[in-house]
Amino acid sequence: MSKYILPVSVFGTAFGCAVLLQNYVTGGPCPSKAKIPGKTIVITGANTGIGKETARELARRGGRIIMGCRDMEKCEAAAREIRGKTLNKHVYARHIDLASIKSIKAFVQKIKEEEEHVDVLINNAGVMRCPAWKTEDGFDMQFGVNYLGHFLLTNLLLDKLKASTPSRIINLSSVAHVTGEVDFDDLNWDCRKFDTRKAYSQSKLAIVLFTRELAKRLEGTGVTVNALHPGVVGTDLGRHTGMHQSQLSSTVLSPFFYLFVKSPTLGAQSSVYLAVAKELEGISGRYYDVMTEKDPAPQALDERMSERLWNASVTLLGLNGQTVSHAHPTSQSAIATVSPELTKTNPVFTTTTSEPVKSTCLDKP
Ligand SMILES: NC(=O)c1ccc[n+]([C@@H]2O[C@H](COP(=O)([O-])OP(=O)(O)OC[C@H]3O[C@@H](n4cnc5c(N)ncnc54)[C@H](OP(=O)(O)O)[C@@H]3O)[C@@H](O)[C@H]2O)c1
Ligand SMILES: *[C@@H]1O[C@H](CO)[C@@H](O)[C@H](O)[C@H]1NC(C)=O
Ligand SMILES: *[C@@H]1O[C@H](CO)[C@@H](O)[C@H](O)[C@H]1NC(C)=O
Repeated sequence: MSKYILPVSVFGTAFGCAVLLQNYVTGGPCPSKAKIPGKTIVITGANTGIGKETARELARRGGRIIMGCRDMEKCEAAAREIRGKTLNKHVYARHIDLASIKSIKAFVQKIKEEEEHVDVLINNAGVMRCPAWKTEDGFDMQFGVNYLGHFLLTNLLLDKLKASTPSRIINLSSVAHVTGEVDFDDLNWDCRKFDTRKAYSQSKLAIVLFTRELAKRLEGTGVTVNALHPGVVGTDLGRHTGMHQSQLSSTVLSPFFYLFVKSPTLGAQSSVYLAVAKELEGISGRYYDVMTEKDPAPQALDERMSERLWNASVTLLGLNGQTVSHAHPTSQSAIATVSPELTKTNPVFTTTTSEPVKSTCLDKP
């Protein structure tokens, strides 16, 4: 009997240490226990991965959850599962394809009709390292879905968010933004040789730049915006990388994965924290590595670049004069929504149903 005590306790200690170390390496559970009854949360890409676990935890805390997904079958299934597990019946599946301006506008229209307020918007949907695909409107898929689609969604929902203050916007960036560069001459990879890794980091850098620019424009409005890196999380995100299916990654590397790659449930903790924590009231324009505020990469702090990216996005989306301008606490009319008239006369919006945006480099001599 006693000869087992030592090995068992060694094993127990090692196991305990591994769990502690894993929590230390990957960040533990959300420290805030705040409940959110009556709060409406919109979350994109909520059918799987971090988004689904974020939706589940926020539902458990009593929120009204609008899950935005492109595949309604998966979305309904996830919503049903969350309703069943949390016994919160206010969990809804809604259609949004962030690779389509038309779909984003239809989603916003429905939210405006159905929801009295929107307290938190979580821009979570993302694609990583897919091939050189284009969105319905001709944008590079990663730039279009991860960044531009959410830029549009956020701007169209801003008046709802402003009417629901204090409200929060949360952007899922990534530590990958550190290697990001923004090429203003070729944002959509029409001219350069496509590099799937660089396209991902450009889209994630764009999100941090945008978070800072938007925070500046929303100063004094009661709407805060922050970006986060959730840590390295085992989800479907790697579906285009090959690594996902390999034998090496599933066997040899699995102990390392245990230490450094966390579950979607743990991966959702930073989104939950930024959504609910009372201590973050009024905090805006920041970047969080998991739950710790950090400085983003130097290029993400470049104010001229963030303004230039804002301008370029407005032009690409044909939103001239329709996004939030620099906030003046006295002027309440800083945000405008897309009016049907403007939409009709706007080239980008009218081309969405017919032909995609032309690549810019083709126009050059
Ligand atoms: N996992 C990590 O280690 C990690 C690290 C840093 C940052 N992040 C960020 O965290 C966020 C969530 O990623 P995840 O790891 O949970 O990945 P995931 O499991 O692949 O989930 C991504 C979600 O986005 C949705 N999506 C993709 N394209 C879309 C589109 N065009 N329209 C609407 N929804 C779309 C997916 O829907 P479908 O199921 O229909 O494809 C899915 O629900 C992403 O922004 C990602 O960049 C993750
Ligand atoms: C988040 O990033 C999107 C682009 O991905 C942008 O449209 C939106 O305004 C940003 N929101 C915040 C809070 O930074
Ligand atoms: C962005 O656009 C505004 C308004 O058109 C302009 O005043 C500003 O100089 C532009 N900023 C940059 C960096 O291009």
